[in-house]
Amino acid sequence: MNTIIAQITQDPLENEKIFAQAGEILRAGGLVAFPTETVYGLGGDAFDEDAARKIYAAKGRPSDNPLIVHIADKADLYKLSREVTKEAELLSEKFWPGPLTMILKKQPSVPSTITGGLDTVAIRMPVHKTAMEMIKASGVYVAAPSANLSGKPSPTRASHCIHDLKGRVDMIIADDTVDIGVESTIIDLSSEVPTLLRPGYITLEQLQEVLGHVEVDPAIKGAVVPDGVVPKAPGMKYKHYAPDASLSIVEGEPDAVVAKINELVAEGMKAGKKVGVMATEETKGRYPEGIVRIVGSHKDEATVAHNLFAVLREFDELKVDLIYSEGFSTEAVGTAVMNRLIKAAGHTIIMA
Ligand code: TXA
Ligand code: MG
Repeated sequence: MNTIIAQITQDPLENEKIFAQAGEILRAGGLVAFPTETVYGLGGDAFDEDAARKIYAAKGRPSDNPLIVHIADKADLYKLSREVTKEAELLSEKFWPGPLTMILKKQPSVPSTITGGLDTVAIRMPVHKTAMEMIKASGVYVAAPSANLSGKPSPTRASHCIHDLKGRVDMIIADDTVDIGVESTIIDLSSEVPTLLRPGYITLEQLQEVLGHVEVDPAIKGAVVPDGVVPKAPGMKYKHYAPDASLSIVEGEPDAVVAKINELVAEGMKAGKKVGVMATEETKGRYPEGIVRIVGSHKDEATVAHNLFAVLREFDELKVDLIYSEGFSTEAVGTAVMNRLIKAAGHTIIMA
């Protein structure tokens, strides 16, 4: 398949042509990868079951893993959900458009192909201008998982989408203004108690400020998932965000962490391995060996969120065998950072 790669520029008229073409492709049942404020999405018409099947095929994703439906108008909430709760109204007022996905009981018209057979649907109204304009130009609801091949880190740069999806989709809209870098916060509002299913830029505390009590799905609570606990967001059960290399997180006092990582790097290199280090602004000068990349600053977890997937992908490109990362505080978006990092590490945490 020939993939059109369209670059968003400063020229509004040129951009409009891109949105019109993307809209045409979506209406015809094709696939378009597009930027959002969180990560790139792989979009198709949510009400076209063939388009949904194409999304699963292009990603190599299991079809029991439901997709998020992206809308450009808050009123569409009622067209997709048969039971828009008070909580959903409050949250959409406060956080939409933005990086929040709500799970609600679906309208019968929402095809079960995109809900993985569930009676609920995931809905999000993104704030990114390109996403918004594209959805509007298409006139359809846009079902979109993250635009990575299944099991790979989510794409946060156009080059990531091109790497994973060139030849597999009709169009990629290149616009490297993806800001947040980790996927949206997901809250389930379809059952009695609102439940956080995936941490993101919008924090549990922010949700609680609006709703009062919010449960946290036990599957995402700590570093170790208790035996027999199945996450409520089907996608959270897969080994996700995984780089090719074996990633370990080193936790402890900052100085001890640096010393431990240096020890592990030396050990790896002695064994003939190519070793990567995910360092920070605070520690960058302190790793004399290995391939060192700076992921962000401990002072602001948002900087780490922004770069995390790009650094993991860069290590893949460099074909490193082992990656050692410092651990991060779980303040604010740090919860989402550690949730993704722990999954990428397959729960390997080393105490310094
Ligand atoms: O930021 C984001 O949310 C990005 C951008 C493109 O919007 N999208 C994204 O989609 O991360 P995806 O497919 O990679 O992750 C969607 C998650 C999966 O874990 C899926 O299982 C869960 O949402 N999900 C979707 N529908 C659900 C439902 N009805 N009930 C529970 N979980 C659901
Ligand atoms: Mg994903």
